[in-house]
Amino acid sequence: VTVKPFDYVIFGATGDLTMRKLLPGFYYRMLEGQVPEEARIIGTARSPLTREAYQGRALEALKKFVKKEDFDDAKIQRFLKLVHYVSLDGSKPESDWNSLRALVSEDRADRVRVFYFATAPNLYGAIAKNLHDKKLAVGDARVVLEKPIGVDLATANDINDSVGQYFKEENIFRIDHYLGKETVQGVIALRFSNPMFEAVWSSDHIESVQITAAETVGVEGRAAYYDESGALRDMIQNHLLQVLALIGMEKPASMAADDVRDAKVAVLQGLKPFNSQTVASHAVRGQYVAGKMGSENVPGYLEELGKESQTETYVALCAEIDSPRWKNVPFFIRTAKRLEQKVSEVVITFKPTESRLFPTEAKRNVLAIRVQPDEGISWTFNAKNPVHDDFSLGQATMRVDFAQTFQTRYPDAYERLMLDAVRGDPILFIRRDEVEAAWTWLAPLMKAWADRKTPMAHYKAGSWGPDEARDMLKRHHAKWHEDMSL
Ligand code: BG6
Repeated sequence: VTVKPFDYVIFGATGDLTMRKLLPGFYYRMLEGQVPEEARIIGTARSPLTREAYQGRALEALKKFVKKEDFDDAKIQRFLKLVHYVSLDGSKPESDWNSLRALVSEDRADRVRVFYFATAPNLYGAIAKNLHDKKLAVGDARVVLEKPIGVDLATANDINDSVGQYFKEENIFRIDHYLGKETVQGVIALRFSNPMFEAVWSSDHIESVQITAAETVGVEGRAAYYDESGALRDMIQNHLLQVLALIGMEKPASMAADDVRDAKVAVLQGLKPFNSQTVASHAVRGQYVAGKMGSENVPGYLEELGKESQTETYVALCAEIDSPRWKNVPFFIRTAKRLEQKVSEVVITFKPTESRLFPTEAKRNVLAIRVQPDEGISWTFNAKNPVHDDFSLGQATMRVDFAQTFQTRYPDAYERLMLDAVRGDPILFIRRDEVEAAWTWLAPLMKAWADRKTPMAHYKAGSWGPDEARDMLKRHHAKWHEDMSL
């Protein structure tokens, strides 16, 4: 894949995301031959650092986040030559924009300009305005917006309006790194290229869908952000609703970005709204208390935070898509910090057969799509159990490990997306109406939680979450998938 030379300007360049994901991501793409030698990665942040000092920080980040076997001194040196730094407060017009302009000023037509906003979202509008006023947002310069886009519909609209004043929608790339995950994209291929799946993908055969993003980490060094955000805004509004949209969407007219996004937004707009009853019966919010991760004792959320808080670290929801395809099919979604295992997956449970042919009952078929780790698929079905002379059934599971099948490494989600913005390919980015639909659907829930209309559940760090979430599924005659060995 050839990529034009580019100037990639990162706002928030000393932050965790840049160090953990963006710089290592560029390095890996350079190894793949996708970062031309003339490319420039220009970090900007308020810290008064020299270019050399910033390159030093970049090196530290690469040492930490690039796998040992991929860390090659000569290549690292080549990479660091691409890295520049300008000390700049992107939200302030009086800041040192001249230095940035001097760096990117050789305005060659074959150079793509991308601005990546990895700062607090409330600065996005001001940075966009400054880029415009300082004549940096020229031509088809692109802007990549990190999530969360706001904290609710109103703030999202403010951000989208103000960035939209200076950048056209086609040049605004709202990143959701779950869409950069191969197995998430794979949902489209799986559904629409296999008659075996396409034919059964509806309430005629599907009993329920479970979408899980479980994490073992606590809030790490991000307490200030996380406590303002919580799991609903941090994970559900974006990542998990995007996965839900891909599982639930109708067949897009084509694989053009807008056709796929039309199909996704129809699902998000079709989510059955919460009402005063379902905010309690169809949603659980929880917070972890002290527990054990493996053999290590870990503190509870409030102890980690050092203050009282009503922020949830666990969310489980029961959603329904109001469409003929999905009539009465619950979509159970959950995400949390400090669960027993790090795993993201989709589990589809099929309805049982009506057949009474066999001496033992046929169990439900289950299709599990493993997003991470160990990207793959498993399919559990009934088979004749050869131990018995009669037609008793047993359960069998077929497993596919994609990395093995395709003999490839699984790139980090950011890598692909960062370069898609250079290529100007928006298919894996979120359109404005998707953001709006997601916030609109969550609004009644956020209000009920802010007004403390529903209680906070608690779960031990290292467990699989609160009893309340288990009870919610029991009411639907369902169980959370907890055997995570694919
Ligand atoms: C981020 C959230 O968007 O996704 C983090 O802000 C979370 O809180 C992360 O840890 C999870 O991503 P992944 O790729 O590890 O599932």
